[in-house]
Amino acid sequence: QTIFHGRHFINLEDFSKEEVDTMLEVSFDLKKKFAMGEPTPYLVNKTMFLMFFEQSTRTRNSMEAGLAQLGGHAGFLDSSSMQVSHGESAKDTAIILSRFGHAIACRYCNWGYGNKYLNEMAKWSTAPVMNLQCDLYHPFQALADLMTMQEKIGKDLKRVKVSIIWAYAESHKKPISVPVSQILLFPRYGMDVVLAHPKGWELPDWVIEQAEANAAKFGGSVTVTDNEEEAYRGANIVIPKNWGSWVTDQTGAAPVGATAVIDDKLKAQKGWKCTEAKMALADKDVVYMHALPADRNNEVEDSVIDGPHSIVYDEAENRIHTAKAVMTLLMGGR
Ligand code: CP
Repeated sequence: QTIFHGRHFINLEDFSKEEVDTMLEVSFDLKKKFAMGEPTPYLVNKTMFLMFFEQSTRTRNSMEAGLAQLGGHAGFLDSSSMQVSHGESAKDTAIILSRFGHAIACRYCNWGYGNKYLNEMAKWSTAPVMNLQCDLYHPFQALADLMTMQEKIGKDLKRVKVSIIWAYAESHKKPISVPVSQILLFPRYGMDVVLAHPKGWELPDWVIEQAEANAAKFGGSVTVTDNEEEAYRGANIVIPKNWGSWVTDQTGAAPVGATAVIDDKLKAQKGWKCTEAKMALADKDVVYMHALPADRNNEVEDSVIDGPHSIVYDEAENRIHTAKAVMTLLMGGR
């Protein structure tokens, strides 16, 4: 028997394929109940803390709204207004917060620190610790992506070609959490995963080795290429992003708090933009996915992200259904 109650949710690799299947089944069930207005009081009187070191739209609100819909309460914590900003340790923070509530969730993407911080919290917390994105993993995003693929393409994703067309280089000290979580998870569903990026933007070797091991075990495949056309050609799903270090607002200015720097190495990748012409190389029923936020100026043409192949809003919506499933399983019954 699988026990979810009380476990941490830091990396989907910590859960078996059957356990991920259960998370998806619960996500679909909760989505249906939400559509029907059926109450889902699985976490009444349960509280959790959402601790953010960085900004968020989807992650924060899917957790806050999701827990409210389950009958519980989520408290938002901006790390800059906590004693962690004065150097309070992860250990002390985790022990105290876990005595106050039933779970702690945290986003900390700082390269070389985020995942270590979450694991340190998990070591000391007496309640589940959930990863809202760190430097290495974004498990809630990958789970929502998988749910959306099953919804659009079917539960059986074997031999489906999914192309992840971006990666941040470890050397650039940017979070690699989204492509890492995706390239590790999708081969576990028998998919043919293509990771395409320009030379010099390689994910760490251990990521590719683990993804290949997952593919060997579950019948998928992993191909790494610097040929963008190869990634688009015949793809059933494309997940193209770019190498910008920040998302511009409508005026092209960097949003408040963002690092308003695109260095020459990043600028050199501007050609890796998702266009209608590239999408035409893919399967006629290809779907375009993006974790969002999207940099419409630099990484994708409006006609693609707003076009008939785009499923980005359904993908974003599924963040709340998968978040509710994970919270229900980890904070709820046994
Ligand atoms: N995709 C995602 O994690 O979005 P936010 O940064 O808005 O949470």
